[in-house]
Amino acid sequence: MMNHDLLDVRNLTVAFHTDEGIFKAVDDVSFHVNRGEIVGLVGESGCGKSVTSLSILKLIPSPPAIIEQGNIFFNGHDLLKMDAAELRRIRGKSISMIFQEPLSALSPLQRIGQQLVEVLHLHSDISKKEAWQIAETWLEKVKIPDPKERLFAYPFQLSGGMQQRVMIAMAMMLDPDLIIADEPTTALDVTIQAKIFSLIKEMRQEKTSILLITHDMGVIWEMCDRVLVMYASRIAEEGKRDDIFVQPAHPYTRGLLNSIPKLAVDTDRLNAIPGQVPSPLNYPSGCHFRDRCSYTFDRCVKESPPLMQLSDKHRAACFIADQLIHQDFTKEP
Ligand SMILES: Nc1ncnc2c1ncn2[C@@H]1O[C@H](COP(=O)(O)OP(=O)(O)OP(=O)(O)O)[C@@H](O)[C@H]1O
Ligand SMILES: [Mg+2]
Repeated sequence: MMNHDLLDVRNLTVAFHTDEGIFKAVDDVSFHVNRGEIVGLVGESGCGKSVTSLSILKLIPSPPAIIEQGNIFFNGHDLLKMDAAELRRIRGKSISMIFQEPLSALSPLQRIGQQLVEVLHLHSDISKKEAWQIAETWLEKVKIPDPKERLFAYPFQLSGGMQQRVMIAMAMMLDPDLIIADEPTTALDVTIQAKIFSLIKEMRQEKTSILLITHDMGVIWEMCDRVLVMYASRIAEEGKRDDIFVQPAHPYTRGLLNSIPKLAVDTDRLNAIPGQVPSPLNYPSGCHFRDRCSYTFDRCVKESPPLMQLSDKHRAACFIADQLIHQDFTKEP
């Protein structure tokens, strides 16, 4: 099969089998990431962003999760069909992951220097001395003060923000083809966050691709070439950054944009989307967004809207997307 994208996720469905019941956390999701591209995955809490990203490297706990269908092509090879040994070769070296929870990536029992050096040794033929040097340089790059001393610290001796930066260093230092970054900067203050973002942009310059997961539209605007908007287990809209910010077509995307806090004084224009993301055990029939949408009509109850092509790269899963795209979203009812 010819395949030009670095990462090509097709029809991914992930279900959880829990005591409360069986539910799909990811429902028939397809998207791709090109070489050297920063793609944002955005949506409210519980929409399935982390489950999607963890599935790429089969890091989703199974049980309770079951990947029910899909292909995840990386350089044309299906990661879901690889055995543990093949996946281990790809993890870290070709694809690395910055987890939402830093302690899930760091061993509590080892000094961080040892952990970084071990990762370096696993994937490249360098001397011990060189590895320690590279580890120190990377701690410096992610703005950890006194990097030389910090190499000898245990994770619990570092603040949450510093643990996160160690993990970012670990993800970047092998110069992977793809970095999956799940809320990489939530524990960081704004100045450090800006430094991490400029590191990410530098890596993109070197043709590294980034899948950047966030619930922050501001981060998406600042960082991404293309955007996937996820709502309640499905892709609601996808497009180039400017498609999404200038001509959003899905009512959910429009709601997200209208709830960005504005610097302007008219705070009553700040409209949070009414209601909450439903539990996956109680997704409504038809369109998952219909209970929160001001445009819902009878068809939305019966059918789940497929992604409608609006322009070259722009698609939205709404029956009236082709009308909404021409209406000013800031004047949303
Ligand atoms: N191990 C698990 N067992 C059972 N349910 C899970 C598990 N992991 C995730 N889920 C459920 O799957 C759904 C999607 O979760 P996910 O973590 O992907 O959301 P998210 O979009 O990453 O949210 P956030 O922005 O809060 O990180 C949620 O309803 C969540 O409760
Ligand atoms: Mg998450």
